[in-house]
Amino acid sequence: MAQQLWSNVADAYARSFAGLCASSLPVVLADLPPGARLLDVGCGTGALAEEAIGRGARVSACDVDADMVALAHARLGASVPVAVAGLPDLQHDDGVFDVVVANFVLNHVDDPAASAAELVRVAAPGGSLRTTIWSNQPTAQGQLFRAVMEASAAIDPQFPALPEDKDFVRSVEGLGDLLLAAGCREVEGRFVTWDWRVLPDDFWAAPTGGVAGVGVAWRAQTPDVQGRMRAEFDRLRQPLMDGEHIVFPASAVMVSGSV
Ligand SMILES: C[S@@+](CC[C@H](N)C(=O)[O-])C[C@H]1O[C@@H](n2cnc3c(N)ncnc32)[C@H](O)[C@@H]1O
Repeated sequence: MAQQLWSNVADAYARSFAGLCASSLPVVLADLPPGARLLDVGCGTGALAEEAIGRGARVSACDVDADMVALAHARLGASVPVAVAGLPDLQHDDGVFDVVVANFVLNHVDDPAASAAELVRVAAPGGSLRTTIWSNQPTAQGQLFRAVMEASAAIDPQFPALPEDKDFVRSVEGLGDLLLAAGCREVEGRFVTWDWRVLPDDFWAAPTGGVAGVGVAWRAQTPDVQGRMRAEFDRLRQPLMDGEHIVFPASAVMVSGSV
């Protein structure tokens, strides 16, 4: 599922939701130990890895999708190792990294428990995991997109979902329990909030480029419905506009765990 959902979407992701996910970077990368060996798992465009390098970390990265890895390579340069590798099977040795980051990744994997255990495996004793996910509360952008679909008489597609016995509760407690079960000694979590400012055409690159749930929904529609959706998007986004940008109140779950 992960590979399929993230294939051929890297450029559209870079233009759209990468900006949303990057908002967590100051929190996720706060108080890095000096010279920390850091692994960025599910690195996407490499924005977090770049920021971590700027903060003095020695960074490696990986992503399940080869196009994402190519974007990260282009951003980070050849001296930073970036591998094509997917949870729950990373190629790295046991116990190598002081900090292992998965920024909005555990909410996309097919096997969250095995994936969290893999993050623990590659962390050094005394090291930490730093993870973020979207919570189980509706997002502002999701609500706008839902309103666009309803106003356009769009059909509801089948969204890929995990079987119940593989899933976990998308909350601070749920992610904390996942990391504890994976072998973390202690966990600490909180809710992070911010405003996501995005240009309308950049946001629209997500559905039309096939990114995440909005991409699945877009691809299920006829060209007529897609045309109506863009018109309804331009109408319904008006109350959220601040100058040229849409402003979405955003929030995420952040949990770190000690190993
Ligand atoms: C929402 S994006 C987050 C990207 C990046 N961490 C960021 O903050 O911008 C999810 C990323 O996880 C990657 N991904 C999905 N499933 C994965 C897996 N099983 N193992 C590693 N990466 C995965 C996707 O290719 C995508 O780059």
